[in-house]
Amino acid sequence: MNQATQQQDPADEEEPGIPPYELLGGETMVRSIVDRFYDLMELEPEFAELRAMHPPSMEGSRDKLFWFLSGWLGGPSLYIERFGHPRLRARHLPFAITSKERDQWITCMALAMQELGVAEDLRDRLLTSLYQTADWMRNTPG
Ligand code: HEM
Repeated sequence: MNQATQQQDPADEEEPGIPPYELLGGETMVRSIVDRFYDLMELEPEFAELRAMHPPSMEGSRDKLFWFLSGWLGGPSLYIERFGHPRLRARHLPFAITSKERDQWITCMALAMQELGVAEDLRDRLLTSLYQTADWMRNTPG
């Protein structure tokens, strides 16, 4: 299994072409999506359970998700450069993730992308892949 498959790279199953990272507009847009994602998590009561699982300061969380998504979207592999293989499921085992947390994560990300004007077809494609990743992270019944 290659690295892209392990990360469920959304570019992996598509015809070779422009990576989603470029389609989105590169680093600035990816960082904006991550920042809006955590801002919404902080602000919106519907994401309260998800927020409560994170540390009081989410500055580190922001950087790590940005580094991860950069590579996952077909841009620079910033997370792997720093930490090696993401082992995302293992890294999430300390947190009890049910379908509720999965759905909060995806809804929060969908809202962030929508607010930032990501084109609907690209958004749908990315969210379908992210949903699979989030669903695979569930480790607790419910
Ligand atoms: C399924 C629902 C999810 C929940 C409840 C969740 C929750 C969390 C929490 C609480 C942390 C620790 C944050 C910190 O230490 O600052 C974390 C870290 C992280 N999450 Fe998630 N997450 C979910 C889904 C995802 C998805 C779908 C991705 C990627 C597409 C992702 C990527 C990451 C990354 C890269 C880290 C940092 C890992 C590290 O190096 O420590 N998460 N997540």
